[in-house]
Amino acid sequence: MTTDYPAVIPSPIIVPPLRPKLAKPSRVAIIKVSGFSIRASIYRRISMAFLIGIDIGTTGAKTLLIDAEGRVAGSAAVEYPMYTPRPLWAEQEPEDWWQATIGSIRQVLRSTGVEKSDLAGIGLTGQMHGMVLLDAQGHVLRPCIMWNDQRTANECRWIMERVGRERFLELTMNPALPGFTAPKIIWTRDHEPEVYAQVAKVLLPKDYVRYRMTGEYATEVSDASGTVLLDVGERRWSEEVLAELNIPLEWMPPCVESPEITGRVTAEVAEATGLPVGLPVVGGGGDQAASGVGTGIVEPGLVSVTMGTSGVVFAYTDAPSRDPEGRLHTFCHAVPGKWHVMGVTLAAGGSLRWLRDTLGAAEMDVAALTGVDPYEIMTAEAALAPAGSEGLIYLPYLSGERTPYPDPNARGAFFGLTVRHNKRHMMRAVLEGVAYSLRDSIELFRDLNVPISQVRATGGGARSRVWRQILADVFGTELVTVNVTDSSAYGAALLAGVGARVYANVPEACAQTVKIVDTVQPVPENRRAYDAYYPVYRSLYPALKPAFDAVAEVE
Ligand code: XUL
Repeated sequence: MTTDYPAVIPSPIIVPPLRPKLAKPSRVAIIKVSGFSIRASIYRRISMAFLIGIDIGTTGAKTLLIDAEGRVAGSAAVEYPMYTPRPLWAEQEPEDWWQATIGSIRQVLRSTGVEKSDLAGIGLTGQMHGMVLLDAQGHVLRPCIMWNDQRTANECRWIMERVGRERFLELTMNPALPGFTAPKIIWTRDHEPEVYAQVAKVLLPKDYVRYRMTGEYATEVSDASGTVLLDVGERRWSEEVLAELNIPLEWMPPCVESPEITGRVTAEVAEATGLPVGLPVVGGGGDQAASGVGTGIVEPGLVSVTMGTSGVVFAYTDAPSRDPEGRLHTFCHAVPGKWHVMGVTLAAGGSLRWLRDTLGAAEMDVAALTGVDPYEIMTAEAALAPAGSEGLIYLPYLSGERTPYPDPNARGAFFGLTVRHNKRHMMRAVLEGVAYSLRDSIELFRDLNVPISQVRATGGGARSRVWRQILADVFGTELVTVNVTDSSAYGAALLAGVGARVYANVPEACAQTVKIVDTVQPVPENRRAYDAYYPVYRSLYPALKPAFDAVAEVE
């Protein structure tokens, strides 16, 4: 849903004309001149510092420009294609990311007219887990194998056996899943030995863009966690895992904390984009950790639910917190020295899009005539069915699943259809089924004693008030929305602000910029309905698992 970028989106400038404005003195210095001591207040020009966040997403690159108070000055996105050379494969050309990055930067600088000298830094974020292979000259060896590529089930099994399941979980804190990076490296070893023989560097998508922008190889701990080659507790590459898998440590770029400066914009890139030469580029974060920063998930008790094509439930933790069965992802956070846990429902907004495309022709027609968003029409219809959809339950496993069932064979289902049910029930059941699946992750957090005091909803799906109410009712928690829409790019921009010393640290950056704009409380009666149906939902996957596997066999 949120990932559907039009080719180029010129955004309106919403920052009022800025005059240099001095903040409170940030420190007082004693300067000695010719034997005299002068007390000087050092001011930061907060309003004139602009920060750039660049998101290398699945469907396009987005550049976002904010000022130090968090106001969006402008944004632009440029699309690129995804290739599926075989079913379940997903690849992209790194050169496409780079061209889209240049295009979107140029567009933003042009549309906002921001002065070069007012730019303080760039933060990078993007799709996680992708594998970019470079040779010794820094040339791309093959297209990137992406996060949503499912070709590596055998390689995952091999890795877990090779290192030993327990030891692997202890070090990387996660199982090897087909989306992650390490199994892709092993796949290349086994299927494309001629490529593997030339590998000199392995980069993640946003880190390839960093390399083009600064000439430096670097990554940061949050994205590196998703390679399953990082010792997540120690926040550095696991020499043990790399050695077991025979992957040279030199292939992996230096790994830093997310707000650290990793390099500066080169003269050639400055020429191509309009950026100033030498502008610092910080580590940034994987799209989920950066989104965590962009929604202010930087202290205990705060949890976010990002409703894009997939739905991600994300909680901050002070220490690494690991599900012994490896059902949740435990990754380093973009907050230095902190971690997060995360569960992923693969088809969240994707389920609603599927419903729109299969059963939503009438709603699309009305939308075309009235100019109202078809999703708004569909969720308004869903609101006419009662909570619990009179026993109709939807399983959202349209693309297999990750949490709590890492199972590519899982399938979607409607359970409990009767003659009473109509399209409204089906629409409501889809919204509820996705919410039940997200609750599965929340229940795993609760099992790990991860505190949950507030859930913040973000992403395209969170625009629907109906869906937000269902989420609050199914989770049994208050659900809020914040003033940030492109949370990954926004978080990356805040990380740039920390690196450039516009903010003292990540929590301070969030406190100054991220604000709550809406709150939904659970309705007790709806909660009761959902608490009664949730165990039924939970019972369906185990009951259907043999049938899912049988269907996969037949195919
Ligand atoms: C996170 C994940 C996705 C991708 C693409 O584990 O797979 O969030 O980063 O957005």
